[in-house]
Amino acid sequence: MKNFEFANPTKILFGKDQIQKLSTEIPQDAKVLMLYGGGSIKKNGIYEKVTKALSGHEVLEFGGIPANPEYDILMKALKIIKDEQITFMLAVGGGSVIDGVKFLSSAALYEGDEPWDILAKRIRTFKGLPFGTVLTLPATGSEMNSGSVITRAETKEKLAMGGPGLFPVFSVLDPTVVTSIPERQLANGLADAFTHVLEQYMTYPAGAMLQDRLAESILQTLIEVAPQIMKNPADYQAAANFMWSCTMALNGLIQKGVPTDWAIHMMGHELTALYGIDHARTLAIIAESHYTYNFESKKEKLAQYAERVWRVTDGSLEEKAKAGIAQTTAFYQSLGIKTKLSEYTDQYPGTAAEVARRLKEHGMTGLGEHGTLAPTDAEKIVEMAY
Ligand code: NZQ
Ligand code: ZN
Repeated sequence: MKNFEFANPTKILFGKDQIQKLSTEIPQDAKVLMLYGGGSIKKNGIYEKVTKALSGHEVLEFGGIPANPEYDILMKALKIIKDEQITFMLAVGGGSVIDGVKFLSSAALYEGDEPWDILAKRIRTFKGLPFGTVLTLPATGSEMNSGSVITRAETKEKLAMGGPGLFPVFSVLDPTVVTSIPERQLANGLADAFTHVLEQYMTYPAGAMLQDRLAESILQTLIEVAPQIMKNPADYQAAANFMWSCTMALNGLIQKGVPTDWAIHMMGHELTALYGIDHARTLAIIAESHYTYNFESKKEKLAQYAERVWRVTDGSLEEKAKAGIAQTTAFYQSLGIKTKLSEYTDQYPGTAAEVARRLKEHGMTGLGEHGTLAPTDAEKIVEMAY
């Protein structure tokens, strides 16, 4: 096991009716900006619950943050934050709204001229404007981590940022919000969280027994709840386990002391930037070819995963490892997610070279747990995913 430090300051308020506690979790004298997405919260009752809980606070609103939070729209919110001297933000939404608010948290205190530099120059944030979240879509884990991914449509870029100053102060995780999530987004959430665990697990054996078993238990829980939640999102127990699994998949815990990969995400982000394919679906497109391409360096963990998570008992190490890859693809497909790029766009010829070019441009020239995957390797992997 590698040396590590672990601190996660986000307070979690989990369960039914926890939204009410916003009234006491947000400082009484705060000037609050509540931010949300395209309007789902106005249809499913979450907006009413939040505004009721905030009735004793001074609150301004900013709606319209789109999926894949857009820089230009966030800049409008930044102006309000500065003009109105906002002291606390509340993100009510999924990963896109929460990530957008993280960018604003950083940009609000940023002293440079061009907030885009936070992303382009990969400036880490050590202090941000405080914010809390009400999670409406289990998927990204953004509600309990300090990372964010922002899109700029103008240049077709999707770049990550983060830093210890960007953990939410608190996050409300009420599983009843799952009831109104459409099937496509439920599938996305399951696939995204599943792949988050894989990115932190499917590397090489590092002697981290507990981290491995924590990761495997999250995968097993997601596999078990997936059909239940897809069938009936109002199933509270299934929703609760789904939600907590997504948070635990990317709150920093399982990646401590172990090597991590994240190459699937880096290639996937480029596919979203190019074609607007949902984040989770880009991961499902890349995963099989990534694991097949890197089979030699990942086969021990692939076999362990096949044995422990999918109960594959027969065959050699290589055969089990291959079964692990096949089971992963089958899992995505069981959610109704297509796993080939050509199933999403006719524009796919030439994509691999373009992804490689963009990775190089953004300095991502050594991906993977060994830092050895060059853009030329990414090109082959994306091509295998056509
Ligand atoms: O915008 P509204 O109208 O609210 O609708 C949203 C949106 O259209 C809808 N939705 C959310 N909660 C709902 C609901 N509809 C009905 N009922 C509810 N309770 O779902 C749609 C998708 O929302 P979005 O926030 O975009 O989804 P998700 O949570 O999957 O977030 C994806 C974004 O997070 C980034 C992705 O790149 C992408 O931009 N990621 C962030 C990470 C992080 N910060 O740690 C890690 C991830 O790997 C990922 O990259
Ligand atoms: Zn993800």
